[in-house]
Amino acid sequence: MKIAVIGTGYVGLVTGTCLAETGNDVTCVDINVAKIQKMQAGELPIYEPGLDLLFHRNISQKRLTFTTDLALAVKDAQIIFMALPTPPGGDGAADLSYILGAAKDIAHLITDYKIIVNKSTVPVGTADKVSAIFKTYTDIKVDVVSNPEFLREGVAVDDFMKPDRVVLGTTSEHAKKIMTELYAPYVRQGNPILFMDERSSELTKYAANSFLATKITFMNEIANLCELLGADVDAVRKGMGSDERIGKRFLFPGIGYGGSCFPKDVQALVKASDENVYDFKILKSVMEVNELQKTILVDKVITYFNQNISGKHFAIWGLAFKPETDDVREAPALYIIKALLDNGASVSVFDPEGMENVKSIFEDKINYATDQYSVLEGANALLIATEWSVFRNPDFEKMSAIIADRVIFDGRNLFELAKMIELGYYYNSIGRAL
Ligand code: UGA
Repeated sequence: MKIAVIGTGYVGLVTGTCLAETGNDVTCVDINVAKIQKMQAGELPIYEPGLDLLFHRNISQKRLTFTTDLALAVKDAQIIFMALPTPPGGDGAADLSYILGAAKDIAHLITDYKIIVNKSTVPVGTADKVSAIFKTYTDIKVDVVSNPEFLREGVAVDDFMKPDRVVLGTTSEHAKKIMTELYAPYVRQGNPILFMDERSSELTKYAANSFLATKITFMNEIANLCELLGADVDAVRKGMGSDERIGKRFLFPGIGYGGSCFPKDVQALVKASDENVYDFKILKSVMEVNELQKTILVDKVITYFNQNISGKHFAIWGLAFKPETDDVREAPALYIIKALLDNGASVSVFDPEGMENVKSIFEDKINYATDQYSVLEGANALLIATEWSVFRNPDFEKMSAIIADRVIFDGRNLFELAKMIELGYYYNSIGRAL
């Protein structure tokens, strides 16, 4: 099939590349000229495991092309995917200006029937708004389909190629037929394509992300309680997670959820609830608890140093909001750095992929190390904010020779307690004994 993908962020680029991989002819469009030129030259603008291979293969086989020319992209496309940003507006509600603007532009360009698919996370009712725009600006018939993405950064290619489910919000029989054909190669193992109305589909995405954010937050509070009660959160997690109704995944306590999705989506659902005079109490608490959890490591540090960390120096391992990404949006590490600086401490950081993104935020206010060992020089303690594999099994002998005091505050529970005691470290993690 001939497909246009509008927007080449994480979602658009993964979607476009993975759709080309099953033989579709995909044109990706973006208004960012430099980015498009980069991709035309074969350069991938994001770090996403596995994407590189598919990206180059499909470019070389001419199934994946890039342009800034929207007219060219939509001309022959049967299906037009919109993968555009929906950042939180000033009032917390998702800002729809990119989506609605693109819909208007497309409406002016098309000359025959199109399926317009919305991949972005959008408030309930957006498909109706997009349909209304097409009705206003063109006489050409279109079907607007809500098709939320469930891609996790770091495993996005796998999530697209082998989805747990594909959700399609449309009541058009024709659109259902075409979309079923398009997604058939991805659901060969029997994972379902779930058809529903547009509004239910739009809400499904918010409900899924908000539920996962709630699950993590619940576990973070259990972890905090474990510390007070002398219980071990690892044991509690396994004991709970073995119940199939609860499930093992997304029960890992830490320093709060971050990223470009959970914080934004929870906030947007709360906002939508408020607008509909529904007080979504659980989600409001989730937001509140997560705010506190992001700096819980700093609270522990301040307590350890007798309420005064002014003049102290701290090393941080991990900046990205999770491993296998360079994305630092809403990353707990940013809040930790800020809190340490606000309390008069100095900071050195190391992350395998996120350094450049953090440099553009903190500039020369902090030090940027070249590896996970040199970052420890002169540090009074090490704080761990992201569970990169490379941090899991460090050379402790090398570490101990560099770090002034053997003090670690671990926000991701990377090490066994017994081992840390044996190595002579003060090791403060989440929901476990000291
Ligand atoms: C999330 C969802 O998992 C995807 O299904 C969804 O498509 C995506 O948002 C989106 O809306 O686009 P992502 O933001 O890439 O994906 O990251 P996750 O792997 O879900 O992690 C989110 C946050 O939760 C991270 O900060 C992570 O450290 C934290 N987390 C996750 C925990 O603290 N504990 C866990 O057990 C799991």
